[in-house]
Amino acid sequence: MELIEDKSRPPLVPVKGVPLIKYFAEAIGPLQNLTPLPDDLLISTYPKSGTTWMSEILDMIYHGGKLEKCRRAPIYQRVPFLEFRCPGVPSGLETLEETPAPRLLKTHLPLSLLPRSLLDQKVKVIYIARNAKDVVVSYYNFYNMAKLHPDPGTWDSFLQNFMDGKVSYGSWYQHVKEWWELRHNHPILYLFYEDMKENPKREIKKVLEFLGRSLPEETVDLIVHHTSFKKMKENPMSNYTTIPNDVMDHGVSPFLRKGIAGDWKNTFTVAQNEHFDAHYAKTMAGCDLKFRWEL
Ligand code: A3P
Repeated sequence: MELIEDKSRPPLVPVKGVPLIKYFAEAIGPLQNLTPLPDDLLISTYPKSGTTWMSEILDMIYHGGKLEKCRRAPIYQRVPFLEFRCPGVPSGLETLEETPAPRLLKTHLPLSLLPRSLLDQKVKVIYIARNAKDVVVSYYNFYNMAKLHPDPGTWDSFLQNFMDGKVSYGSWYQHVKEWWELRHNHPILYLFYEDMKENPKREIKKVLEFLGRSLPEETVDLIVHHTSFKKMKENPMSNYTTIPNDVMDHGVSPFLRKGIAGDWKNTFTVAQNEHFDAHYAKTMAGCDLKFRWEL
């Protein structure tokens, strides 16, 4: 009973000015001692941008499209989530210790909190960015179902907190921009959720090229099929239903919720959209990153 109460909705804790889930904040110190392996691959995203989707794609690529191998464990065990910590559950670092090379790693950290060794040792990165309006709607639903977050409050106040960088992992704007700039001096494949929706096969081929791997055409087709929204939603190894209900309540909102581009239109009011656009134009001024708000 005490454990359940302890896990439920603690306030965010700032680390170097970045608000984080309380338990994740406690993981940042120990994480700085991470020793990367030369063939590690890091999946980096701001939350709700397609991390799980890319994780499943990469695990399938690493296992040559063999479905039974990808069913060996839930996605959060196959792809350790570096800063993850939660009472009573193995941490990201503990899961990493059990993971054989070549390893896939996941993080949502901004560069200021990322273990320096990952940058110094030029660990390859696949970054996925998703348009901010779909991210904030997805994030609001996620805050509601994932009880490690504080209570999100009303949609209107959550939207304002997101714009102000006062949500877990801080500013979306800074995150997408700083990882975009990093591509000048670090091996990064920077992809967009909307492009993956539009043509997953094309984007998977970009991933293969970046990794210096090749797979038969029919295996690529199989990966596209197995990692479709519908397939991942019904797969307990990718849909997070193996997480205890007191941590993630799928009755409130499923983890794989809608999986589309442009869903924000069902949530934003006209006034919220105008307010958001004005702030967006100011915050993203001078940045050559271009997002698609719908397909
Ligand atoms: P929605 O809440 O808009 O549905 P992350 O894994 O980074 O937390 O991102 C979760 C978001 O990606 C959710 O968005 C989820 O539905 C979507 N997603 C996960 N797998 C997907 C897939 N195979 N195809 C499309 N969207 C997917």
